Amino acid sequence: MSKILILGADGNLGTQLIKNSELFGFNQIIPFGRKDLDLLDYDSIISKISKVKPDVIINTAAYNAVDKCEEFEDEFKLAKKINSEAVKFLGKAAIKNNSVLVHYSSDYVFGGDVCHEDGCNDDCLLKFKENGGFREDDEPCPVNKYGLSKLWGEEELLKLKDKKLKYYIIRTSKLFGPKGRSSDSKDSFFDLMLKLSKDRNEISVVNEELSCFTYTPDLACQTIDILSGKKDYGIYHIRNSGPAIWYDAARELFKMKNVSIKINPVSAESFPRPAKRPKYSVLANSKLPNLRSWQEALGEYLKNI
Ligand SMILES: NC(=O)c1ccc[n+]([C@@H]2O[C@H](COP(=O)([O-])OP(=O)(O)OC[C@H]3O[C@@H](n4cnc5c(N)ncnc54)[C@H](OP(=O)(O)O)[C@@H]3O)[C@@H](O)[C@H]2O)c1
Repeated sequence: MSKILILGADGNLGTQLIKNSELFGFNQIIPFGRKDLDLLDYDSIISKISKVKPDVIINTAAYNAVDKCEEFEDEFKLAKKINSEAVKFLGKAAIKNNSVLVHYSSDYVFGGDVCHEDGCNDDCLLKFKENGGFREDDEPCPVNKYGLSKLWGEEELLKLKDKKLKYYIIRTSKLFGPKGRSSDSKDSFFDLMLKLSKDRNEISVVNEELSCFTYTPDLACQTIDILSGKKDYGIYHIRNSGPAIWYDAARELFKMKNVSIKINPVSAESFPRPAKRPKYSVLANSKLPNLRSWQEALGEYLKNI
């Protein structure tokens, strides 16, 4: 019987991993929220994990406030500490205890080199579009500080490869699904749209930024499949099938929910946010079976809320 330690246990994805934990078989699941292990307390990361001696560590904990960390230097420092520095200690703890480490990263590690350089045009996206998106081994190049902090986290783990780190870096994008147990759990795009539609007759939605939605229960199950299938260590991309821009996703949502609301497509520029978003950050999946479409997953989510 193996022991699985889940960090970020009260977050959106952490909650789903625990909920689906019967799929881990007869394994022992140990959920750790922030109160059990604060990732800012580097000194206790290795010691607390060593007390548990897990066979697998799954880290879903992260700093995710994309706009805040772009705007405020102190927040960016916090993002670096949680998304990068703490991840280095998790890697060291995994090596010390001979544990497998699963760590989540983001599509936001991509996008910078193709669409935000001066003179950039859509032609430079062709290579990626022909491959069905950014592949696991494509060179990352983030457009915002959050993406940079997630990339640095990946790099910290890759540096430990020589020290025999057993790792899975799972990049994912645009999560949605049941809310986590934490009272601070973030609303997904779909939750936000449904809330806004309650007291509005029309809504403006960005009609660009193509990437893939990911249903957290599907992500949790495929993570478990990777572990139980003992896949080769390395970088994996997990997302539901079929990329979408925000506008198309909102249209599908309101159609499925029979909500009558006018949706105005707007450019990203007319919707100013502190952090730039990639215009294109579709994750190509070349290593795993494809998950069902995001529309099918959304249908299931809506049935259950
Ligand atoms: N959400 C997305 O659309 C998206 C897209 C791409 C990639 N990802 C990645 O997917 C993973 C899961 O995301 P999610 O949406 O499930 O995140 P989430 O719901 O925001 O959960 C993150 C968890 O991290 C915990 N945490 C934050 N700072 C911590 C600290 N210093 N010490 C210990 N725990 C701390 C939070 O604890 P509290 O509850 O106490 O605050 C929270 O439970 C993350 O790695 C994220 O970067 C997410």
